[in-house]
Amino acid sequence: MPAPGVDPAKVRDIHDREMKKFVDARPRTMGLLERARAHMPNGVPMAWMTIDQDIPVYVDRGEGAGFTDVDGHRYLDVNVSDMVMFCGYGNPEVASAIAERARSGTQFLLPTIEAVEVAEELARRYPVPFWQFTLSASQANVEAIRIARAATGREVALLFDGHYHGHFDEGLINLEDGRLVPVQRGLAKATTGKVRIAQFNDLDGLRRALEPRDVAIVLTEPALTNNVHLLLPQPGWHEALRALTREAGTVLAIDETHTCVVGPGGATRRFGLQPDIITIGKSIAGGVPLGAYGLSEPLARELDVRREQGGTATGGTLFGNPLSMAAARAALTRVLTPAAYEHTAALGARLADGIDTAIRAARLPWTAQRFGPRSGHWYGPEPKTGLQALARRDRLLTVTQRLWMANRGVWEALPGAGPTIAVPAQAGDVDRYLDAYSSFLRAVAT
Ligand SMILES: Cc1ncc(COP(=O)(O)O)c(C=O)c1O
Repeated sequence: MPAPGVDPAKVRDIHDREMKKFVDARPRTMGLLERARAHMPNGVPMAWMTIDQDIPVYVDRGEGAGFTDVDGHRYLDVNVSDMVMFCGYGNPEVASAIAERARSGTQFLLPTIEAVEVAEELARRYPVPFWQFTLSASQANVEAIRIARAATGREVALLFDGHYHGHFDEGLINLEDGRLVPVQRGLAKATTGKVRIAQFNDLDGLRRALEPRDVAIVLTEPALTNNVHLLLPQPGWHEALRALTREAGTVLAIDETHTCVVGPGGATRRFGLQPDIITIGKSIAGGVPLGAYGLSEPLARELDVRREQGGTATGGTLFGNPLSMAAARAALTRVLTPAAYEHTAALGARLADGIDTAIRAARLPWTAQRFGPRSGHWYGPEPKTGLQALARRDRLLTVTQRLWMANRGVWEALPGAGPTIAVPAQAGDVDRYLDAYSSFLRAVAT
């Protein structure tokens, strides 16, 4: 649906003009793209890299809060690789930990001391004592669901409308016009039968969804950050979610993969949550692949390999490998310090204030978002449920904004997400973002 306050025809014109400008300024990119298309579908190693735009940016190198493309354009990166690069590019602590591990063995299929220290650090931050590791947050969520199924003997995973928890079967089922449907092709039809979707912040709906007592797990972000831009919990929501899941014998898992950037202990600590499982990934290893999940003591027993009936289906040869764990130890203990969270939250507030000012100056009926180092806007008032948030998306406008920002040296967040301030960013970077953002609002406002 077109966002209020803008004329879609004008946005289309701006999009086409900015696209031409983008292409004209990137001759090396265009040459690489042509070459890459001969051996990689869409010219990229992973299909999503062209999901928002046919022409990807081929990156040369990253440094601090930004990166440079093969044509020499420097970008301030507020997408932070969809939260993975919150520590910044080429962070010296992470880089030297990786180099040291590369010289002393990156894989043994045996634990190293870094794993012990990373588990200790995560247990200090989050209210669950036992930790396991994968290579991505998606895989952490897969294992969380399996453990909940093993523990409860039930099959259904309950998610909230507008969710995104990764690229696994149950996580790719959405609600459309009240029906459960796979969002992409390639899933088994039976997958929809193992998923239920309720509305975030809707207590009655949640109660109804749990009532059949067949739900193994509720998996949710503490505040939804993906397809819905940002959906914050209403007062009392999390307390009720905890009480109702307990009452229904359902495992409660909180996915901190994105929200962990709001502080040590993420939004779980900020909101005072008491889940049975925490899942996490992306930024915890400073840009090296790693996923993790923390378990309550009773759930940790599901992983006891001495059980007679065989263990729960988890694990992979490279999961929790020493390279990932060395990077995570450096990121968690030397980069993601309390001071780093304070710095990024202060800059996030500056960003939200600036977005608010720009929206008002352009007389748009939009609302600025505030969530630690992350901001952005809603095309209207703050939504309360995923259904409301999804109805307010405007893909052409967000894609045009990305292009506009790229042409002015800012790599904007993915459509659906908001800009995030990384640890190495400074006030001048926020102001640079705001200059480009304000000029975009002036250009599109009717
Ligand atoms: C909340 C959340 N959980 C899990 C994932 C999956 O992460 P990955 O793609 O690294 O497996 C994402 C990815 O965007 C996410 O936003």
